[in-house]
Amino acid sequence: MTDDLLRYRAEFPILERSTYLISNSLGAMPRGVYDAMKGYADIWATRGVRAWEERWWMLAAEVGDEIGALMNAAKGSVSTHQNVTTCQAVVASCFDFSGKRNKVVYSDMNFPSVMYFWEAQQANGARVHMVKTDDGITVPTQRMIDAIDEETLLVPMSHVIFRSAYIQDAKAIIEKAHKVGAMVVLDTFQSLGTVPVDVQALDTDFACGGVLKWLCGGPGVGYLYVRPDLGRKLEPRLTGWTAHQSPFSFEIGPTRYTDPPYRFMNGTPHIPALEAARPGLKIIQEVGVERIREKSERQTAKLMALAEKNGWRVNTPRDAEKRGGTVSIDMPDSQEVCRELLKRDVLVDWRPKAGVRMSPHFYNTDEEIDKAVATVNEILHERVPSAR
Ligand SMILES: Cc1ncc(COP(=O)(O)O)c(C=O)c1O
Repeated sequence: MTDDLLRYRAEFPILERSTYLISNSLGAMPRGVYDAMKGYADIWATRGVRAWEERWWMLAAEVGDEIGALMNAAKGSVSTHQNVTTCQAVVASCFDFSGKRNKVVYSDMNFPSVMYFWEAQQANGARVHMVKTDDGITVPTQRMIDAIDEETLLVPMSHVIFRSAYIQDAKAIIEKAHKVGAMVVLDTFQSLGTVPVDVQALDTDFACGGVLKWLCGGPGVGYLYVRPDLGRKLEPRLTGWTAHQSPFSFEIGPTRYTDPPYRFMNGTPHIPALEAARPGLKIIQEVGVERIREKSERQTAKLMALAEKNGWRVNTPRDAEKRGGTVSIDMPDSQEVCRELLKRDVLVDWRPKAGVRMSPHFYNTDEEIDKAVATVNEILHERVPSAR
C-alpha cells in the first residue's frame, strides 16, 4: 500500500534519527522553522523597531486566522495567547461569578492545569461541579448533561481526553448547555490537527488549544476562538493595551474595547513563538485533517491490535469513532518501560492512570509502529528473562 503522506517525512529532521511517536506531547519540528527563526532574527536585526508596524503587530491575527481555518472558524474570531490556561483565564474574566448562575461543570478527565485554574476561581465565587469517570478512559456523557443546569455558567471540557484519547460527545454537551443558557469552552488541544473540529457545526461558544502537539507549531502559542456574536459583546477583564480601540493614544482611564481578535488579547504578543508556529500550520493545512484522521484511525487500530496481542492493557477506546490520535498502553512496569524506550530513541511518554502514550501522526510509517512494539517486547524480556 502506498502512503502518500510519507512524502512529508523529509520536512521533519527528527524522523531521520528517532522513532517519533509523541505528537500528543510535542509534534516534530518542521525544517521550515529554521528559516522562520532566521527571518525573525533578520527583521529584528535589520528593521529594528519598524518590525512592529511592518510585520509583528499583524502577526497574532494572521496566525489566529491560520489556526482558525483548520477548525472552520470565521476570520478574526481566533486570538492567540501563550497557552490554554491563559485562554481559560481570559474567558473567566468575561464573567461574574457572584450571582446564582455561577456553576462550572467539568469532568475529572480534563487536563489538570485547567482544573487547577477553575478550582482557584472558587475564591471569586465559582462553584465547581466535577463529573467523575467510571473507567478512567471515558467521560459519562449523560452525567455531564445531567450536571449542566440553569445555574451553570460555563462548561470547560476537553474535546479529546489527554490520558485516554476518548472523544467526548461535544455536540450533545453543547446542545444541553445552550438549552439551559450555559456556555462551553471546548479544549481542542488533543483534537485539532488529528481529529476534525468544526466550531461552527458544533456551535461551541469558545474553543481553545495550543499548536505544539498535533499542529507541529512549537511551544508558546495557545489559541482562543470566541463565537463571533459573543466576541462583539464580551468584555474580558484580563485585558491590556492590545485590546484597546486606540492603543497608541495611551489614553488614561477605563479601556475602550476593540474588535476581536485583539479584544481578547492583552499585552505585547509572543512574536518568536508565532513565527515558529507558521511552518507547521502550513503543512497541516496542506495535508488536510481528513487525511490525517483517516491514517490515524488505521495506525491507532494497528497499534491497539499489537498491544492486545501481547496481552497489554489498552486504556483507549476500541471504537475508532470515539478514539483520538493516541493509544495509551499499560504494559507491566510501564513507567520504567517508557524510560527505556526513550533511551533507545523510541520517543513516547508516560502518564499516571494511562500508561505509555503512543501517538502516530501523518509522518509516521507502519514500520515505526512495529518497531516501537518490538522494542517494548525487547525491554520486557530483558527485565524478566523468563517471559521470553
Ligand atoms: C487537553 C489539554 N489541555 C491543555 C493542555 C496544556 O495546557 P497549557 O497550554 O495551559 O499548558 C494540555 C497539555 O498537554 C492538554 O492535553
